[in-house]
Amino acid sequence: MSLVPITDMLHDAKKNRYAVGHFNMINMEFAQAICEAASEERAPVILGVGEATIQYMGIDYVVSIAECAAKRSRVPVALHLDHGSSFPVIAQCIRAGFSSVMIDGSHHPLEQNVALTQKVVELAHAAGVSVEGELGSIAGTEEDVTVEEKDAQLPTVEEAVSFWEQTKVDVLAVAVGTAHGLYQAEPNVRCDRIADISSRINAPLVLHGGSGVKEEVIQQAISAGAAKINVNTENQVAFAESTRSVLNQKPVIADARDFLREGRAAIKETVRAKIRLFGSNNRV
Ligand code: 13P
Repeated sequence: MSLVPITDMLHDAKKNRYAVGHFNMINMEFAQAICEAASEERAPVILGVGEATIQYMGIDYVVSIAECAAKRSRVPVALHLDHGSSFPVIAQCIRAGFSSVMIDGSHHPLEQNVALTQKVVELAHAAGVSVEGELGSIAGTEEDVTVEEKDAQLPTVEEAVSFWEQTKVDVLAVAVGTAHGLYQAEPNVRCDRIADISSRINAPLVLHGGSGVKEEVIQQAISAGAAKINVNTENQVAFAESTRSVLNQKPVIADARDFLREGRAAIKETVRAKIRLFGSNNRV
């Protein structure tokens, strides 16, 4: 299959109370693991790629690997820019073949965030590409962007509804208490806010910072209306732990595939477990 936008898959998820997994990919092994798990589970899936990964791999490698993974998959696969920071980056990704983009204007004052997001929606929709917008700032570190706990802001329900009405983004990420990266203390996830906002806008909501959140909280967030859940850190940890274990057992390695293969298998099982938790299995 070719790469698809995220709008249809997420409206179905919102309507039927499950969530589609967004899994960040940073190389070929991540893309293979994520798409193989999704195919075997018959789940639509989103490959998330941040700007640091675009710099690390090169945008042509990113798109080619995602297209190849999608072509081999029996399920819808989207290639989605995660936390796009500016209009030129968005335009570059759309030109290169991304099927979906996130514009994260949350570090700007509200009016500027609205204006930037409106501009992105116009460009992306003309190219058939879906758009995720963000309101409020999510604490933690995602790739090379860090937001301190004290600077994280949770918007009100009214602010979120008004942001969506003005921008008409296809999908909305609202800070609700989760954070990127590993948690030091248990997060207070405001599922009540997810429910209030979800009932008042005709767009699916996104939960960022899906790693390390208790299973029952994830289920509550999905019942409240979270239709896309982003996971990165848990896959990174699974990859690092399994490759480290191979390297510890076999200190002399002459073939990198000895540990890459194990790392890929570990990501695949982590993704499979998330897909089942999110209820997106057997949807295709
Ligand atoms: P985690 O790294 O906490 O799973 O968050 C991922 C994310 O939200 C990507 O946008």
